[in-house]
Amino acid sequence: MKVSLITGASSGIGEAFARRLAAEGHDLLLVARSETKLAALCEELSVAEGVSANYVAIDLTDYEADRRLYEETERHGLEVDWLINNAGFGSMGDLVELDLERELEMIGLNVMALVALTHRYLPGMRQRKSGTIINVSSTASYQPVPYMATYAATKAFVTSFSQAIAEENRRDGILVQALCPGPTETAFFDNAKIEPTSMFKQQQTADEVVEAAMRAVASRKTKAISGWMNRVVATASLMVPDRLITYVVGKAIGPKFRSKK
Ligand SMILES: NC(=O)c1ccc[n+]([C@@H]2O[C@H](COP(=O)([O-])OP(=O)(O)OC[C@H]3O[C@@H](n4cnc5c(N)ncnc54)[C@H](OP(=O)(O)O)[C@@H]3O)[C@@H](O)[C@H]2O)c1
Repeated sequence: MKVSLITGASSGIGEAFARRLAAEGHDLLLVARSETKLAALCEELSVAEGVSANYVAIDLTDYEADRRLYEETERHGLEVDWLINNAGFGSMGDLVELDLERELEMIGLNVMALVALTHRYLPGMRQRKSGTIINVSSTASYQPVPYMATYAATKAFVTSFSQAIAEENRRDGILVQALCPGPTETAFFDNAKIEPTSMFKQQQTADEVVEAAMRAVASRKTKAISGWMNRVVATASLMVPDRLITYVVGKAIGPKFRSKK
């Protein structure tokens, strides 16, 4: 059975993807740590949309989690036709003040789990000559971001990696997309302990982000920035020297963290 596997499907953008794909008739395999939320969403979507919706509750930063997830799909004869690598989190602060374990966990989830799942599910897509991979990056991937250094760097990796892989797999009929949302109304900011500042005031809804991604999939785009304002800012930032951007952003958010000393 063909399924769409969505990581981080228990809330926010991942949940919005689950609702949208179910409405379009996709059978789902939802992945995150919160078992109760995943079970409730599967129950709701299978009744409301008449699709098959199952879940695997797993921490993707655990040792060999990607292997265990892959084996689970193999055991149930599931062909992952859409892979949405969405699970991720951020942090904000002076790097030396942030918890090192949490920063490394972020790299484990935002980068390592995404690469591992892409690597595991691409061979099946190649054999079938079809597949869609959406790797959820961020507009933060467009420039280094002081006080969000690790997060922005993980997303720069995701955008670069996804576009390279897109070209490697284009001739096999597989679409790989780097999806770059800007600030979006989800639990992301609370989880990252980021206080709302003017930088993050203009927020899209998770549904708007998913709509942008789906439109970009329909036109086979390998990169999608959701929201016209985010597109303007991200594109403009490519024309400004990194040193100027880091100076301005550092000036804007730095005092909040540096003044603690
Ligand atoms: N919101 C924004 O402003 C924004 C902007 C640009 C990009 N993004 C990106 O969008 C993606 C989704 O974030 P969101 O905004 O929707 O935030 P969110 O509501 O906090 O969703 C994060 C999802 O990731 C899952 N997750 C976290 N740690 C996990 C782990 N160790 N193993 C498995 N699943 C894990 C969470 O579920 P559990 O807690 O149940 O595990 C949750 O389903 C992230 O990659 C984020 O970087 C967000």
